[in-house]
Amino acid sequence: MLTAKDEKDNGCIVNTVVQVGANPTRLAISCQMGNLTREIIEATGAFNVSVLTEDVPFETIRHFGMQSGRDVDKFADFPGVKRSCNGLYYLTENVNAMFSAQVKHKIDLGSHMLFIGEVTESKALGKGAPCTYAHYHKAIKPKR
Ligand SMILES: Cc1cc2nc3c(=O)[nH]c(=O)nc-3n(C[C@H](O)[C@H](O)[C@H](O)COP(=O)(O)O)c2cc1C
Repeated sequence: MLTAKDEKDNGCIVNTVVQVGANPTRLAISCQMGNLTREIIEATGAFNVSVLTEDVPFETIRHFGMQSGRDVDKFADFPGVKRSCNGLYYLTENVNAMFSAQVKHKIDLGSHMLFIGEVTESKALGKGAPCTYAHYHKAIKPKR
């Protein structure tokens, strides 16, 4: 999950975080152009990644991944968050790690903006297995 902040805190679910460099550690994230989170990251040059674990409830995925911060304040009543050194929120529940990153490159892919960020802070937060996209579809997403 990604978080970002300008006048307002916001965040969204992403399944596109990849470590793409070391010393310094660099992460790539791919954000849909229409997402508010993409706009904020482009404007501020900073983002946090919270690594969700397999026990994450569907409600968290729905809350951050199926509605936009343009319509709701996603952090208004959301419990289990802290701020990292860069002032952005990260999640403290149903996560096993967090990373803060500073954007170094961006590549316009048309539908998505690919950001490459340098990690400025990281913490281990738990021992749960990370939630993959496959696990989300198999065990979290409600079946019709
Ligand atoms: C399982 C899942 C994976 C997603 N992966 C991505 C992703 O990799 N990149 C992205 O930009 N949006 C992704 N989304 C969609 C955003 O989370 C969604 O569009 C969100 O509502 C954007 O909110 P915002 O407008 O407040 O930024 C994903 C959503 C779900 C449920």
